[in-house]
Amino acid sequence: MEKELRHLQERRRLVLSGGGEKRIEEQHQRGKRTARERINMLLDEGSFVELGTFVQGDLDDAASLDIKNPGEGVVAGCGAIDGRRVYLFAQDFTVAGGSLGEMHARKICRVLDLAGQNGAPVIGLNDSGGARIQEGVCALNGYGEIFYRNMLYSGVVPQISVIMGPCAGGASYSPALMDFVFMVDEKSHMFITGPQVIEAVTGETITMEELGGAAAHNSTSGVAHFLASGEEEGLKQVRTLLSYLPSNNVDDPPAASPQEPLLDGEELMGIIPDDNDKSYDIREIIRRVVDGSVFFEVHEQYARNAVAGFARLSGTAVGIVANQPLVKAGCLDIDASDKISRFVRFCDSFNLPLITFVDVPGYLPGVEQEWGGIIRHGAKILYAYAEATVPKISVILRKAYGGAYIAMGSRSLGSDLCLAWPGAEIAVMGPEGAVKIINRRELESSAEPEKLLRELAQGYRERFANPYIAAARGWIDEVIDPRQTREYLCRAISIVGLKRVQRPPRKHGNIPL
Ligand code: HXC
Repeated sequence: MEKELRHLQERRRLVLSGGGEKRIEEQHQRGKRTARERINMLLDEGSFVELGTFVQGDLDDAASLDIKNPGEGVVAGCGAIDGRRVYLFAQDFTVAGGSLGEMHARKICRVLDLAGQNGAPVIGLNDSGGARIQEGVCALNGYGEIFYRNMLYSGVVPQISVIMGPCAGGASYSPALMDFVFMVDEKSHMFITGPQVIEAVTGETITMEELGGAAAHNSTSGVAHFLASGEEEGLKQVRTLLSYLPSNNVDDPPAASPQEPLLDGEELMGIIPDDNDKSYDIREIIRRVVDGSVFFEVHEQYARNAVAGFARLSGTAVGIVANQPLVKAGCLDIDASDKISRFVRFCDSFNLPLITFVDVPGYLPGVEQEWGGIIRHGAKILYAYAEATVPKISVILRKAYGGAYIAMGSRSLGSDLCLAWPGAEIAVMGPEGAVKIINRRELESSAEPEKLLRELAQGYRERFANPYIAAARGWIDEVIDPRQTREYLCRAISIVGLKRVQRPPRKHGNIPL
């Protein structure tokens, strides 16, 4: 046994040292940590349990200590974050560039299966040169098996990807199939085809960073949801995200102790400008309503005319969706539609109540939007809100016009409680546009059309757009003092929080993708 034990220890040492000292040194020189260092940084201290330590692709002499690719370029297992179980894998760039072969994929599939079967989140730390070229179709098949499981456990357990190095070609599709993608600034790159191939095919020249860096995917493509300035910050963000999420689709989100907002709720009276066409930052309102004034934004830099993220109300984790008047006046466009509907569906999958703050002049007009398919994309928001069976509560702060009123968590789409601030305007369209249609003749024959327009618009506001019309029909449950928004929302969660809804049986719906 002594001899076998020595062999075991030596074998373990070899696997733990990955690609060896030189490769580890190179990894550090690039400003990157090794797979094991990252795991230790992410998990609660001492909680990591490795699985498949001795998996290897080359079976020529499996008993020898001459291991070709220690650990097959990926470290897999389970551990704890804030005392809650998670499953994870971390690709090891020091071993064959973290490239994915058959057994590398099998280790990832195993943690995905364990996560799904045990109802715990799965986290992938990606740093890989993609499909291991020498393994050909076996590597491709490995990706396929991962994608299959990403689909299988979608909506069952949260799936999180952190891109910490290259993630090229089809390899980017596993993160894309997961719920949230984090990217580390200047160290991570994602693309289907890299700069050289693009130049050869289309003649476009672009750097790797411009094409597929964290900034590009967080602000332009929307592929990534979070941008971290470094590895440590990225892993900390993952821990924060998990603090809002249940471990699986039948658990409740973790409860926290209630906290009053740090920012003064009295100030809610003065945030919306008197001039209805002036903008303000919706986050100033959100932060004055939620626990500790902490709002954890998702897709912060993408489609900034909409805002989505997590917060707590009286200790209960909630998903928050809002229009952002600071950008494009808060109109809904194609990208905002994708951002909102995906977030709503995530919250619905994982039992997070949805709070919607509405200040929306409409869907964004324009040829580009129409040809880009705003009808198809905008329909996703309608579908997602209507489909969601979690508690849905909305607050109309100012404008709520047309189809966008319906889309943003209206009662007609099944919201449980709708509140409005006294200055809310709920109507088919904005006052000026409306009176130009219904008072066209008067305006054309007026000696002072501008003055008349203003008067008519004011009359329209009072007569057709005030919130008491909606309240009279029951589409608004309560018109509230802005300073009582938090109190009403906390109460609303307790009123509708135990809701259970059964839908007609079907295989699945057909969301307009
Ligand atoms: C096998 C690979 C590899 C790969 C890297 N290596 N990628 N081995 N298969 N895909 C090996 C290198 O040979 C090298 O080994 C070591 O990893 C480190 O790589 P370097 O090139 O020295 O590192 P660096 O200069 O930092 O460049 C990293 C890189 C580059 C940008 C990732 O290696 C690269 O471009 N790799 C290929 C990327 C790619 O096109 N992958 C296929 C995508 S298509 P040695 O022993 O020499 O040090 C794909 C299809 C999936 O993935 C489809 C799923 C549906």
